[in-house]
Amino acid sequence: MNVGIIVAAGKGERTKLTYPKQFYQILDKSLLRIALEKYEYSKLIDKIIVVANENFMEKTKKECYGINKVYDIIKGGDSRQESVFNGLKYIYNVFGFDVSIVSIHDAARPFVSIDKIDESIEIAIKNGSAVLALPEKNSVSHVIGDVIDKILDRNEIYLHQTPQTFDFQKLYKAYMNFENELKSFTDDASIFHKAGNFVRIIPGEEYNIKITTDFDIKFAKWLIKEGKINV
Ligand code: CTP
Ligand code: MG
Repeated sequence: MNVGIIVAAGKGERTKLTYPKQFYQILDKSLLRIALEKYEYSKLIDKIIVVANENFMEKTKKECYGINKVYDIIKGGDSRQESVFNGLKYIYNVFGFDVSIVSIHDAARPFVSIDKIDESIEIAIKNGSAVLALPEKNSVSHVIGDVIDKILDRNEIYLHQTPQTFDFQKLYKAYMNFENELKSFTDDASIFHKAGNFVRIIPGEEYNIKITTDFDIKFAKWLIKEGKINV
């Protein structure tokens, strides 16, 4: 069984909206709804667990209406990684290791293509992991204060996106290993890697942006106007 976890428990503080960004609507659909529909229409996803902000449980439930694969809506934690961990623990308690693959996705990245979700699952079935990432285009350096410490080789730098898709058993064990320091990580790939697992990178998508600031919202609207993305 392949399960998707959509993390939508954040506060969206950097967007400066008066409510969490997962409920922001583009063409009458919330970011969360758009992300959910992508997982609903993936051929390879069997069930979806939605991780919600505890102050917005009812609102999240409304967004899930009619999405048949949503198995449950559960409460998130203080950080993204704690929200993911709640999802993993829930899956383990309900299904155990009958779940072979778990695909984790940010509600704040609604523009991923359905084909990419499926590709990440196919690769994770073969390789144990599949993390979307894009090669860096700018020159990059390691900086201390306001001074360059070291110039990095940009050919070796990749920017992570989601979906991040894994062998469920291996990811669950990795999270259990670092259960007390989850806040120090920023994504699932970093926890999976720290636990000593091989992490397979697959090409990310240019338009699979994470809505983080008000600029990103304006950019997303422009992308839709230009016909670059469909929602
Ligand atoms: N997320 C979550 N639980 C948290 C924090 C974040 O489920 N405690 C989710 C967000 O809802 C989002 C994804 O993780 O879909 C990526 O996080 P981020 O872009 O940082 O979203 P927010 O934390 O909501 O935004 P901000 O950091 O600006 O407050
Ligand atoms: Mg955040």
